[in-house]
Amino acid sequence: MATGIEITKLTARYASSPTQVAANAPDVLKNLSMRVGAGTIAMVVGPSGAGKSTLLNSIAGLQPIAGGYVAMCLGSKKGVMEHGRDTLLLPKDRRRIGIAFQQSNLWSHFTVRENLTHPQIKLAGVSRADANRWADELLSALVLEDQAHKGVGELSGGQRQRVSIARSLSLRPDILLFDEITANQDPENVNRVFNLIRSYVQSTGCTALTVSHDMGFVRKIADTVHFLHGGIIRVEAPTATFFDNPQDEIVSKFLQAF
Ligand SMILES: Nc1ncnc2c1ncn2[C@@H]1O[C@H](COP(=O)(O)OP(=O)(O)OP(=O)(O)O)[C@@H](O)[C@H]1O
Ligand SMILES: [Mg+2]
Repeated sequence: MATGIEITKLTARYASSPTQVAANAPDVLKNLSMRVGAGTIAMVVGPSGAGKSTLLNSIAGLQPIAGGYVAMCLGSKKGVMEHGRDTLLLPKDRRRIGIAFQQSNLWSHFTVRENLTHPQIKLAGVSRADANRWADELLSALVLEDQAHKGVGELSGGQRQRVSIARSLSLRPDILLFDEITANQDPENVNRVFNLIRSYVQSTGCTALTVSHDMGFVRKIADTVHFLHGGIIRVEAPTATFFDNPQDEIVSKFLQAF
């Protein structure tokens, strides 16, 4: 199977205080390597503080990496984009990555619908009519059609999170990165999020990497599960194997808590 995301010997660290240089800080990710098949949904799970969000930020090029590199497939025949310690993603490549993270980063001065149409019109040159059509399709998939003309500040936390998910698809990305996107959703909306992501991945062949503590969601949506522990991917397995036949003692203990 073609590769969607390939991470090779990725190292990431933070300066632990403003006076300490990052080079002396402990590594959060330690020569981490992993591969996600193109057109699949991969889940990263692991204890709090393991480095899951750091991994997503590093892949997205939102924080500098200390070593290694990340390569991502840009759909069929569109080539590969890659960044490493000495290279950053170009803005035009970064747009090929759809992101919805723990903190929503919606534009508060725009309406819900404008949050989805603005990037399409301004960055991708889509016509207003087409941008509206795609925005409305995404919003209605997450039952947000009645919120379309509201300001972002008028929404509940869960609604805002769903708008972020819808917006992450607005530029029809080749790569999707999600961090805890179902944390504020009721079970019906978890299903809607699942259906939207699954159908987008199936119809476009895009690759999704998702972080979650919601094992029900993971089990339902993931093709593969990658267990992050001690700065490396300790176990990767097809979803059914990961849950039903965990061979690793630390994974068994982690799963028992759910
Ligand atoms: N901005 C930062 N500055 C310094 N250290 C940080 C920063 N962000 C994260 N860390 C540290 O890096 C480690 C990994 O954090 P990260 O947020 O990636 O974990 P996580 O697996 O996403 O956890 P959670 O499940 O709680 O979201 C933790 O030890 C954390 O304290
Ligand atoms: Mg996190």
